[in-house]
Amino acid sequence: MKIVVLAGGISTEREISVVSGTKVCEALRAKGHRAILLDVYFGLEGADVDEAFTEEYDIAAAAAYIRSFDSRVEASVSAGREFFGPRVLALCKEADMVFMALHGENGENGKVQAAFDLFGIHYTGSGYLGSALAMDKGLSKQIFRENGIPTPESVLIHRSEPRKTAEEYGMAFPCVVKTCCGGSSVGVYITEDEAAFADALEEAFTYEPQVVLETYIRGREFSVGVVDGKPYPIIEIAPLEGFYDYKNKYEPGSTIETCPACLSEEQTEKMQEYAVRAYEALRLESYGRIDFLMDEDGKMFCLEANTLPGMTPTSLLPQEAAAMGIGFAKLCETLIQVSKE
Ligand code: DAL
Ligand code: MG
Repeated sequence: MKIVVLAGGISTEREISVVSGTKVCEALRAKGHRAILLDVYFGLEGADVDEAFTEEYDIAAAAAYIRSFDSRVEASVSAGREFFGPRVLALCKEADMVFMALHGENGENGKVQAAFDLFGIHYTGSGYLGSALAMDKGLSKQIFRENGIPTPESVLIHRSEPRKTAEEYGMAFPCVVKTCCGGSSVGVYITEDEAAFADALEEAFTYEPQVVLETYIRGREFSVGVVDGKPYPIIEIAPLEGFYDYKNKYEPGSTIETCPACLSEEQTEKMQEYAVRAYEALRLESYGRIDFLMDEDGKMFCLEANTLPGMTPTSLLPQEAAAMGIGFAKLCETLIQVSKE
């Protein structure tokens, strides 16, 4: 197949997106596909379009080229330039499938998906509606509650509202402050007192106008992949220090991951059932990964759904697939397959 792997983009998860995209592209190449790695923003500017979809296409050079955009991406975003480079769009139209490795803003929030629908471009993962609902934790949590999926108590606040103390918002400490549409824990703070809370709120509002305040759940952390509507084995994530923040997510050796997680059969079934229910309630398609916490009494809480979960061979979904005997390259092909159906 001719496959465009889209990575980079403009979100706070740009760097991890390039890593996911590179690994997916290499794996698809190894399976014999004519896969190319593109940044949606700049595309093949400076490179020869005729070399696309050929054996000569150099993935490492493409990744280095994309990484070299970092400062220019920021400048272009603030200048309000068009999101798609014209060559990228042309190549996506020419491809049989676009593999979405574009975590975060635009790539994961449904905007690219909506544009692709209008252009008749096929892509992996959820459509625009599921992507948008899952990206917005304020809306996701409302939908979880309406569908009997337990989620931590929370308050949604807007930058324009007069500031209050955590107590006035009805929150006890520790209180989690998180951006509504963030990813990879960028803009997530666990606060222990009012001073830290006020600082965290201002910091979170520098990213986005909407912020979620959430009750802190002390306990264990899990994630469940759902592919084609069916749950994968549960993975437990145990950071050696603190919570599963950006550093613990991406610094090798900082987190112990166990798959399948040590849970009773009953707990496993229940968490997987909540994961599928969340996937369906949020209108996800093809695949996703749902994150959970379990408190010391064994009560489960659904935190969020990720429509474009990390896709390096050591990321959570690939580890879950590996526990089922599905290797990384096979998983990449499976995600394409289920997106075509
Ligand atoms: N947002 C990151 C990439 C994840 O969920 O894996
Ligand atoms: Mg996430």
